[in-house]
Amino acid sequence: MDEELINLKPVYWDDEKDCLIILDQRKLPRSEEWLEIRTLSELEDAIRSLAIRGAPLLGIASAYGVYLGIRDYKGDEPGFKKELNRIISRIAATRPTAINLFSTLRRAQEVGRFVDRFDVEYIKIKLLALGNRILSEEEERSCAISRNGADILEANVRIITHCNTGALAAVGLGTALGIIYEAYQRGYVEEVFVDETRPLLQGARLTTWELKRWGIPFRLIVDGAAPYVMQKNMADIVLVGADRIVRNGDVANKIGTYSLAVAAKRHRIPFIVAAPTSSFDLSILEGADIPIEERSDDEITRFCEKEVAPEDVKTFNPAFDITPAELITAIVTERGVIENPDKYKIADHISGSLSADYDVLL
Ligand code: MRU
Repeated sequence: MDEELINLKPVYWDDEKDCLIILDQRKLPRSEEWLEIRTLSELEDAIRSLAIRGAPLLGIASAYGVYLGIRDYKGDEPGFKKELNRIISRIAATRPTAINLFSTLRRAQEVGRFVDRFDVEYIKIKLLALGNRILSEEEERSCAISRNGADILEANVRIITHCNTGALAAVGLGTALGIIYEAYQRGYVEEVFVDETRPLLQGARLTTWELKRWGIPFRLIVDGAAPYVMQKNMADIVLVGADRIVRNGDVANKIGTYSLAVAAKRHRIPFIVAAPTSSFDLSILEGADIPIEERSDDEITRFCEKEVAPEDVKTFNPAFDITPAELITAIVTERGVIENPDKYKIADHISGSLSADYDVLL
Protein backbone atom coordinates (compact mmCIF):
# COMPACT_ATOMS: atom_id res chain seq x y z
CA MET A 1 0.00 0.00 0.00
CA ASP A 2 1.08 3.54 -0.81
CA GLU A 3 3.16 4.86 2.13
CA GLU A 4 1.18 8.10 2.10
CA LEU A 5 -2.04 6.22 2.79
CA ILE A 6 -0.71 4.65 5.95
CA ASN A 7 1.22 7.68 7.06
CA LEU A 8 -1.48 10.19 7.72
CA LYS A 9 -0.31 12.63 10.39
CA PRO A 10 -3.41 14.57 11.49
CA VAL A 11 -1.30 16.46 14.03
CA TYR A 12 2.40 17.38 14.11
CA TRP A 13 4.75 20.13 15.15
CA ASP A 14 6.28 22.08 12.26
CA ASP A 15 9.72 23.34 13.35
CA GLU A 16 10.09 25.70 10.41
CA LYS A 17 6.74 27.37 10.86
CA ASP A 18 7.13 27.04 14.62
CA CYS A 19 3.53 26.01 15.12
CA LEU A 20 1.24 23.02 15.45
CA ILE A 21 -0.33 21.72 12.24
CA ILE A 22 -3.65 19.88 12.41
CA LEU A 23 -5.97 18.42 9.83
CA ASP A 24 -9.31 20.18 10.38
CA GLN A 25 -11.65 17.22 10.97
CA ARG A 26 -14.73 19.48 10.90
CA LYS A 27 -14.17 19.91 7.16
CA LEU A 28 -13.76 16.24 6.26
CA PRO A 29 -14.72 14.57 3.98
CA ARG A 30 -15.60 17.59 1.83
CA SER A 31 -12.16 19.18 2.00
CA GLU A 32 -8.72 18.50 3.47
CA GLU A 33 -7.79 21.72 5.23
CA TRP A 34 -4.74 22.03 7.45
CA LEU A 35 -4.73 24.59 10.24
CA GLU A 36 -1.73 26.35 11.74
CA ILE A 37 -2.26 26.54 15.49
CA ARG A 38 -0.10 29.19 17.15
CA THR A 39 -1.83 30.04 20.40
CA LEU A 40 -3.41 28.28 23.34
CA SER A 41 -6.80 29.83 22.53
CA GLU A 42 -6.67 28.45 18.98
CA LEU A 43 -5.86 25.03 20.40
CA GLU A 44 -8.71 25.20 22.94
CA ASP A 45 -11.08 26.15 20.15
CA ALA A 46 -9.83 23.30 17.92
CA ILE A 47 -10.42 20.79 20.72
CA ARG A 48 -13.87 22.10 21.74
CA SER A 49 -15.12 22.28 18.17
CA LEU A 50 -13.72 18.82 17.33
CA ALA A 51 -11.34 20.07 14.64
CA ILE A 52 -9.06 17.73 16.52
CA ARG A 53 -10.57 14.80 18.42
CA GLY A 54 -10.25 11.15 19.49
CA ALA A 55 -8.70 10.19 22.83
CA PRO A 56 -5.04 9.62 21.86
CA LEU A 57 -5.05 12.68 19.60
CA LEU A 58 -6.39 14.81 22.44
CA GLY A 59 -3.50 13.55 24.56
CA ILE A 60 -1.00 14.63 21.91
CA ALA A 61 -2.66 17.95 21.16
CA SER A 62 -2.85 18.96 24.79
CA ALA A 63 0.91 18.51 25.22
CA TYR A 64 1.54 20.87 22.33
CA GLY A 65 -1.13 23.15 23.80
CA VAL A 66 0.86 23.48 27.01
CA TYR A 67 3.92 24.48 25.02
CA LEU A 68 1.93 27.00 22.94
CA GLY A 69 0.61 28.53 26.14
CA ILE A 70 3.97 28.79 27.91
CA ARG A 71 6.41 29.51 25.11
CA ASP A 72 6.21 33.31 25.39
CA TYR A 73 6.50 33.33 29.19
CA LYS A 74 9.24 35.75 30.25
CA GLY A 75 9.05 35.79 34.06
CA ASP A 76 10.89 34.02 36.88
CA GLU A 77 10.76 30.37 38.05
CA PRO A 78 7.98 30.63 40.71
CA GLY A 79 5.84 32.57 38.23
CA PHE A 80 6.50 29.86 35.65
CA LYS A 81 4.86 27.18 37.79
CA LYS A 82 1.82 29.38 38.37
CA GLU A 83 1.51 30.15 34.68
CA LEU A 84 1.90 26.48 33.80
CA ASN A 85 -0.90 25.56 36.21
CA ARG A 86 -3.13 28.20 34.68
CA ILE A 87 -2.51 26.81 31.17
CA ILE A 88 -3.05 23.25 32.35
CA SER A 89 -6.39 24.20 33.95
CA ARG A 90 -7.53 25.86 30.72
CA ILE A 91 -6.76 22.78 28.65
CA ALA A 92 -8.32 20.50 31.28
CA ALA A 93 -11.56 22.45 30.92
CA THR A 94 -11.92 21.75 27.18
CA ARG A 95 -13.26 18.17 27.13
CA PRO A 96 -13.74 16.04 30.26
CA THR A 97 -14.01 12.40 29.18
CA ALA A 98 -10.89 11.21 27.33
CA ILE A 99 -8.30 10.39 29.98
CA ASN A 100 -5.40 10.87 27.56
CA LEU A 101 -5.84 14.63 27.79
CA PHE A 102 -5.49 14.54 31.57
CA SER A 103 -2.58 12.11 31.73
CA THR A 104 -0.69 14.35 29.31
CA LEU A 105 -1.39 17.36 31.51
CA ARG A 106 -0.06 15.45 34.51
CA ARG A 107 3.10 14.68 32.61
CA ALA A 108 3.45 18.34 31.59
CA GLN A 109 3.12 19.32 35.23
CA GLU A 110 5.88 16.88 36.18
CA VAL A 111 8.13 18.42 33.54
CA GLY A 112 7.27 21.87 34.93
CA ARG A 113 8.45 20.87 38.42
CA PHE A 114 11.99 20.69 37.08
CA VAL A 115 12.03 24.46 36.81
CA ASP A 116 13.47 24.37 40.35
CA ARG A 117 16.59 22.75 38.90
CA PHE A 118 16.81 23.96 35.31
CA ASP A 119 16.10 27.30 33.70
CA VAL A 120 12.77 28.30 32.23
CA GLU A 121 13.91 28.16 28.60
CA TYR A 122 15.17 24.60 29.04
CA ILE A 123 11.85 23.49 30.52
CA LYS A 124 9.98 25.05 27.62
CA ILE A 125 12.06 22.95 25.20
CA LYS A 126 11.28 19.87 27.28
CA LEU A 127 7.55 20.63 27.07
CA LEU A 128 7.71 20.75 23.29
CA ALA A 129 9.69 17.50 23.38
CA LEU A 130 6.92 15.98 25.49
CA GLY A 131 4.43 16.58 22.67
CA ASN A 132 6.76 14.93 20.14
CA ARG A 133 7.34 12.05 22.50
CA ILE A 134 3.66 11.38 23.20
CA LEU A 135 3.01 11.47 19.46
CA SER A 136 5.60 8.80 18.75
CA GLU A 137 4.49 6.69 21.74
CA GLU A 138 0.94 6.67 20.35
CA GLU A 139 2.17 5.79 16.86
CA GLU A 140 3.99 2.77 18.25
CA ARG A 141 1.04 1.73 20.39
CA SER A 142 -1.31 1.94 17.43
CA CYS A 143 0.81 -0.43 15.34
CA ALA A 144 1.02 -2.98 18.16
CA ILE A 145 -2.74 -2.76 18.86
CA SER A 146 -3.45 -3.32 15.16
CA ARG A 147 -1.33 -6.48 15.11
CA ASN A 148 -2.64 -7.82 18.42
CA GLY A 149 -6.24 -7.26 17.38
CA ALA A 150 -5.82 -8.81 13.94
CA ASP A 151 -4.33 -11.89 15.63
CA ILE A 152 -7.68 -12.67 17.28
CA LEU A 153 -9.78 -12.25 14.12
CA GLU A 154 -10.65 -14.98 11.67
CA ALA A 155 -11.05 -15.06 7.91
CA ASN A 156 -14.13 -13.53 6.25
CA VAL A 157 -14.94 -11.44 9.27
CA ARG A 158 -17.77 -8.91 9.03
CA ILE A 159 -17.30 -6.06 11.49
CA ILE A 160 -19.51 -3.33 12.94
CA THR A 161 -17.62 -0.26 14.10
CA HIS A 162 -18.68 2.99 15.74
CA CYS A 163 -17.40 6.57 15.70
CA ASN A 164 -13.89 7.10 14.32
CA THR A 165 -10.90 5.24 15.68
CA GLY A 166 -8.45 5.59 12.81
CA ALA A 167 -5.30 7.66 12.35
CA LEU A 168 -7.55 10.70 12.63
CA ALA A 169 -8.25 9.78 16.25
CA ALA A 170 -5.09 8.05 17.33
CA VAL A 171 -2.25 8.62 14.79
CA GLY A 172 -0.47 5.58 13.32
CA LEU A 173 -3.22 3.35 11.97
CA GLY A 174 -5.62 4.07 14.80
CA THR A 175 -6.99 1.58 17.31
CA ALA A 176 -10.15 -0.34 16.30
CA LEU A 177 -9.75 0.91 12.74
CA GLY A 178 -6.05 -0.02 12.82
CA ILE A 179 -7.07 -3.59 13.62
CA ILE A 180 -9.44 -3.52 10.66
CA TYR A 181 -6.61 -2.23 8.45
CA GLU A 182 -4.20 -4.93 9.60
CA ALA A 183 -6.84 -7.68 9.33
CA TYR A 184 -7.66 -6.50 5.82
CA GLN A 185 -3.98 -6.70 4.83
CA ARG A 186 -4.03 -10.30 6.05
CA GLY A 187 -7.07 -11.02 3.89
CA TYR A 188 -9.47 -11.51 6.79
CA VAL A 189 -12.01 -8.73 6.28
CA GLU A 190 -15.12 -9.35 4.24
CA GLU A 191 -16.97 -6.15 5.07
CA VAL A 192 -17.21 -3.34 7.60
CA PHE A 193 -20.48 -1.76 8.73
CA VAL A 194 -19.82 1.83 9.75
CA ASP A 195 -22.27 3.42 12.19
CA GLU A 196 -22.88 7.01 11.10
CA THR A 197 -22.45 8.04 14.79
CA ARG A 198 -24.96 10.73 15.60
CA PRO A 199 -24.92 13.60 16.17
CA LEU A 200 -21.55 14.70 14.78
CA LEU A 201 -21.21 11.86 12.27
CA GLN A 202 -17.65 10.82 12.98
CA GLY A 203 -18.50 7.46 11.38
CA ALA A 204 -20.16 8.85 8.25
CA ARG A 205 -17.65 11.63 7.71
CA LEU A 206 -14.35 10.29 9.02
CA THR A 207 -14.35 6.50 9.23
CA THR A 208 -15.71 6.16 5.71
CA TRP A 209 -13.07 8.64 4.53
CA GLU A 210 -10.31 6.54 6.07
CA LEU A 211 -11.70 3.20 4.85
CA LYS A 212 -12.09 4.62 1.34
CA ARG A 213 -8.46 5.76 1.30
CA TRP A 214 -7.43 2.25 2.32
CA GLY A 215 -9.76 0.55 -0.17
CA ILE A 216 -11.48 -1.53 2.51
CA PRO A 217 -15.06 -2.56 1.62
CA PHE A 218 -17.69 -1.01 3.87
CA ARG A 219 -21.29 0.02 4.11
CA LEU A 220 -22.52 3.04 6.04
CA ILE A 221 -25.50 2.44 8.32
CA VAL A 222 -27.55 4.63 10.65
CA ASP A 223 -26.80 3.92 14.30
CA GLY A 224 -30.18 2.31 14.87
CA ALA A 225 -29.54 -0.23 12.09
CA ALA A 226 -26.66 -1.98 13.87
CA PRO A 227 -28.79 -4.34 16.01
CA TYR A 228 -30.78 -5.25 12.90
CA VAL A 229 -27.54 -6.04 11.05
CA MET A 230 -26.72 -8.42 13.94
CA GLN A 231 -30.21 -9.93 13.93
CA LYS A 232 -29.91 -10.58 10.18
CA ASN A 233 -26.64 -12.43 10.84
CA MET A 234 -24.72 -9.95 8.71
CA ALA A 235 -21.96 -9.21 11.25
CA ASP A 236 -19.55 -11.37 13.26
CA ILE A 237 -18.07 -8.88 15.71
CA VAL A 238 -18.34 -5.34 17.03
CA LEU A 239 -15.05 -3.46 17.27
CA VAL A 240 -14.84 -0.04 18.95
CA GLY A 241 -12.36 2.29 20.66
CA ALA A 242 -12.38 3.86 24.11
CA ASP A 243 -12.02 7.28 25.68
CA ARG A 244 -11.39 5.95 29.16
CA ILE A 245 -11.16 2.46 30.64
CA VAL A 246 -11.34 2.24 34.42
CA ARG A 247 -10.16 -0.28 37.00
CA ASN A 248 -13.05 -2.73 36.74
CA GLY A 249 -12.93 -2.74 32.93
CA ASP A 250 -15.91 -0.43 32.31
CA VAL A 251 -15.39 1.63 29.16
CA ALA A 252 -16.42 5.17 28.23
CA ASN A 253 -16.75 5.63 24.49
CA LYS A 254 -18.82 7.56 21.95
CA ILE A 255 -22.54 7.69 22.70
CA GLY A 256 -24.17 4.64 21.14
CA THR A 257 -21.41 2.23 22.16
CA TYR A 258 -23.40 0.85 25.11
CA SER A 259 -26.44 0.03 22.98
CA LEU A 260 -24.16 -1.78 20.51
CA ALA A 261 -22.74 -3.85 23.39
CA VAL A 262 -26.22 -4.75 24.64
CA ALA A 263 -27.28 -5.82 21.16
CA ALA A 264 -24.06 -7.78 20.64
CA LYS A 265 -24.71 -9.70 23.88
CA ARG A 266 -28.28 -10.45 22.76
CA HIS A 267 -26.96 -11.85 19.47
CA ARG A 268 -23.93 -13.60 20.99
CA ILE A 269 -21.52 -11.53 18.91
CA PRO A 270 -18.09 -10.71 20.41
CA PHE A 271 -17.80 -7.10 21.53
CA ILE A 272 -14.16 -5.98 21.34
CA VAL A 273 -12.67 -2.72 22.60
CA ALA A 274 -9.30 -1.53 21.29
CA ALA A 275 -7.33 1.10 23.18
CA PRO A 276 -3.77 2.01 24.12
CA THR A 277 -2.75 1.68 27.78
CA SER A 278 -2.69 5.50 27.80
CA SER A 279 -6.51 5.36 27.77
CA PHE A 280 -6.69 3.49 31.10
CA ASP A 281 -7.51 5.38 34.28
CA LEU A 282 -6.76 3.31 37.35
CA SER A 283 -7.72 6.16 39.67
CA ILE A 284 -11.39 5.39 39.07
CA LEU A 285 -12.94 2.12 40.16
CA GLU A 286 -16.04 1.97 38.00
CA GLY A 287 -17.57 3.56 34.94
CA ALA A 288 -20.30 5.46 36.80
CA ASP A 289 -17.60 7.83 38.09
CA ILE A 290 -16.26 8.80 34.67
CA PRO A 291 -17.16 12.41 33.82
CA ILE A 292 -19.32 12.39 30.71
CA GLU A 293 -19.23 15.40 28.43
CA GLU A 294 -22.58 16.96 27.60
CA ARG A 295 -22.62 19.01 24.44
CA SER A 296 -24.79 21.80 23.11
CA ASP A 297 -28.47 21.61 22.07
CA ASP A 298 -27.82 22.67 18.51
CA GLU A 299 -25.85 19.51 17.73
CA ILE A 300 -29.20 17.70 17.80
CA THR A 301 -31.74 20.42 17.12
CA ARG A 302 -29.96 21.40 13.89
CA PHE A 303 -28.78 19.26 10.98
CA CYS A 304 -26.63 20.59 8.13
CA GLU A 305 -27.17 24.08 9.49
CA LYS A 306 -30.97 23.77 9.38
CA GLU A 307 -33.36 23.62 12.34
CA VAL A 308 -34.86 20.14 12.63
CA ALA A 309 -36.65 20.52 15.96
CA PRO A 310 -39.17 23.08 17.16
CA GLU A 311 -37.69 26.16 18.78
CA ASP A 312 -36.58 25.88 22.43
CA VAL A 313 -36.91 22.11 22.77
CA LYS A 314 -35.00 20.74 25.74
CA THR A 315 -32.22 18.32 24.89
CA PHE A 316 -29.94 15.82 26.56
CA ASN A 317 -26.80 15.42 24.49
CA PRO A 318 -24.18 13.23 26.20
CA ALA A 319 -21.15 12.74 23.94
CA PHE A 320 -20.19 9.42 25.54
CA ASP A 321 -21.71 6.48 27.39
CA ILE A 322 -20.44 3.72 29.64
CA THR A 323 -20.26 0.08 28.59
CA PRO A 324 -20.01 -2.21 31.63
CA ALA A 325 -17.13 -4.68 31.59
CA GLU A 326 -19.55 -7.63 31.73
CA LEU A 327 -20.65 -6.84 28.16
CA ILE A 328 -17.08 -6.73 26.84
CA THR A 329 -15.59 -9.87 25.31
CA ALA A 330 -12.05 -8.53 25.18
CA ILE A 331 -9.95 -5.38 25.37
CA VAL A 332 -7.00 -5.19 22.98
CA THR A 333 -4.04 -2.97 23.90
CA GLU A 334 -0.49 -2.64 22.58
CA ARG A 335 0.51 -5.26 25.16
CA GLY A 336 -1.96 -7.96 24.22
CA VAL A 337 -5.53 -9.01 24.85
CA ILE A 338 -7.53 -8.92 28.09
CA GLU A 339 -10.33 -11.46 27.74
CA ASN A 340 -13.49 -10.95 29.83
CA PRO A 341 -11.95 -7.95 31.58
CA ASP A 342 -12.31 -7.47 35.31
CA LYS A 343 -10.40 -5.53 37.96
CA TYR A 344 -7.83 -8.28 38.52
CA LYS A 345 -7.02 -8.74 34.85
CA ILE A 346 -6.89 -4.98 34.27
CA ALA A 347 -4.51 -4.52 37.22
CA ASP A 348 -2.35 -7.35 35.94
CA HIS A 349 -2.24 -5.97 32.43
CA ILE A 350 -1.47 -2.41 33.41
CA SER A 351 0.68 -2.89 36.50
CA GLY A 352 4.09 -1.31 36.35
CA SER A 353 3.38 0.38 33.06
CA LEU A 354 2.19 3.76 34.00
CA SER A 355 5.33 4.61 35.92
CA ALA A 356 7.20 4.55 32.60
CA ASP A 357 4.65 7.03 31.26
CA TYR A 358 5.60 9.46 33.97
CA ASP A 359 9.28 9.35 33.16
CA VAL A 360 9.75 13.04 32.56
CA LEU A 361 13.42 13.34 31.86
CA LEU A 362 12.70 12.45 28.24
O1 MRU B 1 -16.04 13.02 20.42
P1 MRU B 1 -14.89 12.31 19.79
O2 MRU B 1 -14.96 12.30 18.30
O3 MRU B 1 -13.56 12.82 20.31
O4 MRU B 1 -15.04 10.81 20.29
C1 MRU B 1 -14.07 9.87 19.89
C2 MRU B 1 -14.42 8.49 20.32
O5 MRU B 1 -15.38 8.24 21.00
C3 MRU B 1 -13.46 7.40 19.92
O6 MRU B 1 -14.14 6.20 19.77
C4 MRU B 1 -12.40 7.25 21.02
O7 MRU B 1 -11.80 8.48 21.32
C5 MRU B 1 -11.37 6.29 20.65
S1 MRU B 1 -10.26 6.96 19.46
C6 MRU B 1 -9.09 5.81 19.10
